[in-house]
Amino acid sequence: MDSQAENLFQRLLDALGIRGAGDVSDGRDALPLRMPVQDVDHAGDRRIVKGRIETGRVSVGDRVLFSPSNVTARVAGIEAKNAPTVLTEAAAGQSIGITLEEQLVIEPGETLSHENRPPVETDVFRARLLWLGHTPLGPGRRCTLRLGTAAADVEVQSIERFIEPHGSDASGAAHELTRDGLAEVVLRSRSMLALDAFTDNPRTGRFVLADETEIVGVGLIGMEGYPDQRSLITGRSSNVTVVDHGVSRAARARRNRHAGGVIWLTGLSGAGKSTLVIAAEDHLFRKGYQVYALDGDNVRHGLNATLGFSPEDRAENIRRVGEVAALFADAGFIVLTAFISPYRADRARARAAAERVTPRGFHEVYIRAPLEVCEARDPRGLYERARAGEIPDFTGISAPYEPPERPELTVDTGDRSVEQSLRALIDHIERYFALTGEAPPEG
Ligand code: ADX
Repeated sequence: MDSQAENLFQRLLDALGIRGAGDVSDGRDALPLRMPVQDVDHAGDRRIVKGRIETGRVSVGDRVLFSPSNVTARVAGIEAKNAPTVLTEAAAGQSIGITLEEQLVIEPGETLSHENRPPVETDVFRARLLWLGHTPLGPGRRCTLRLGTAAADVEVQSIERFIEPHGSDASGAAHELTRDGLAEVVLRSRSMLALDAFTDNPRTGRFVLADETEIVGVGLIGMEGYPDQRSLITGRSSNVTVVDHGVSRAARARRNRHAGGVIWLTGLSGAGKSTLVIAAEDHLFRKGYQVYALDGDNVRHGLNATLGFSPEDRAENIRRVGEVAALFADAGFIVLTAFISPYRADRARARAAAERVTPRGFHEVYIRAPLEVCEARDPRGLYERARAGEIPDFTGISAPYEPPERPELTVDTGDRSVEQSLRALIDHIERYFALTGEAPPEG
């Protein structure tokens, strides 16, 4: 990090009233190992992974992990960078080259850590940001995120709140952050990032935003309300082979008179998802569809009874339901799901799972109602309890909801009757999954 950025970080820490944590010269060795990869040299068939250790220590023989690519290796040797000195271990502040027992393809920008204390993998995170751009910052703004040795395109998903001293009374529109202003924002990248929350690692939990070569912001990373996605992308089963079915998808579709598919409803609690899937299931079944509704509250009594509402548990909830829905679709069913599914990344994974078995068979349906309306309905009294602090991590109150960007259908339930909303949903399903052929004779 150059001195301009260091000065800006100091300004940010001062403005936020953070003392001590910014002084990371002490105790850097005691933090988990983090080495952003600067370069990878090829010497014959040996690869030397070069970088400076930001925090922690590394020894020959350690099992290490590269993130975000999520591959592991064992350290074969360590040498001082630019010198032939062979080391058995190295610590924060040292610039080194590491050779690995496995010959992996490692790119600059990856972060090296120990396998058991990895950074977070995510494509979305919070930031307390000092904005330095000449034009105000608003949702949708794109910049380059510089994080360690990595660079990634990011977009401002939302401005969550303005932070004093440059509070919401700052000049400019209420939803824009003007130069020298401070705010908490949510940033999203297209690719997976490896990062640390500032509270976990004050050295690596910070970043620079740039426009071309100009620094337009500095920020501190927070993960409150967002899951670490590493476990969702780490496959652990090995020695497994996929078995082919003897019954083809086409044969199932002929018998059912329609292809299988997933109708994925997402929205706040109380928006009307369960009511709609149960009514749509009934309607479609009567018409002759092979149809099944999967509802959040129901599935959480069985398959997902072991999961709560932490960001990680919700992500795992949706991963499992996405896979189950894909199995139903593969079996030929139209499956209607009613889960809050608050994270875009989880819904994208559910889509990918379904599209593996039924291309274009996944339809994301945004059941939209303003928070005030959901809260006024409060069918189970949960919002009231959440407001009273009795239910932590409650979506819309103390946990995030990320609306779909390009849903196949949006149903506004706030100002419509259940019948009108149901009609919109059913019309959509019948258009894309029209029944073919003759109905079989009764009995
Ligand atoms: S999700 O976020 O993981 O998709 P899911 O749809 O399965 O949630 O479950 C949501 C239902 O659980 C809500 O309709 C509500 O009845 C109940 N619930 C209990 N605690 C919470 C909470 N903290 N946030 C949201 N819903 C909750």
